[in-house]
Amino acid sequence: MTKVLGISGSLRRGSYNSALLRAATRLMPEDATLEVASIRGIPLYDGDVEAQGIPAVVNQLKEAIVAADGVLLATPEYNNSIPGVFKNAIDWLSRPSSDIKRVFGGRPFAIMGASPGNFGTTLSQAAWLPVMRTLGTQTWFGGRLMVSRAGGVFDEGGSLKDAAVEEHLKQFLAGYVNFLRRPAA
Ligand SMILES: Cc1cc2nc3c(=O)[nH]c(=O)nc-3n(C[C@H](O)[C@H](O)[C@H](O)COP(=O)(O)O)c2cc1C
Repeated sequence: MTKVLGISGSLRRGSYNSALLRAATRLMPEDATLEVASIRGIPLYDGDVEAQGIPAVVNQLKEAIVAADGVLLATPEYNNSIPGVFKNAIDWLSRPSSDIKRVFGGRPFAIMGASPGNFGTTLSQAAWLPVMRTLGTQTWFGGRLMVSRAGGVFDEGGSLKDAAVEEHLKQFLAGYVNFLRRPAA
């Protein structure tokens, strides 16, 4: 069984990115699962707080990453870049820096995103790249999923209703899981 951990970069109840991950849970290939994690409860990064210990919510998410075969980020785009709450969560997950190798090093990450605009998180996905490089992940580039005009892609209950996006998501997940199952080098 291939286990993927999905992390939504939005706290919004009606989040398109969380909805995209929910849709992904039912479109995963056979013998693969997607568990969706939240960044809710992660405090603003503060070195003084860190000096008292890494918050439990951060440690739990770190261990969920370590236990997964791959990590799928669903990122919104704010002002043509990464939303602060999502970057803040990853910044916490990168602490202490002595743990970066264990949590991120060589780990296969994938990035997708949804936005109501016409460009579907193109720039925020690009903004993640130097972060991924710094953390030493092995980011998968075999597919791209930028869901644009997301307001028409999900229904009012947050279910994916666009057949073309559904097919694209399915192919994206199949490609990513295939990558996760590649024979070790
Ligand atoms: C501060 C802020 C900046 C935004 N900037 C962008 C942007 O640069 N590009 C874009 O496509 N959408 C932008 N949006 C709209 C978001 O894509 C939209 O709020 C989206 O629903 C957020 O993702 P979510 O549905 O997962 O919460 C912005 C929204 C906010 C609140």
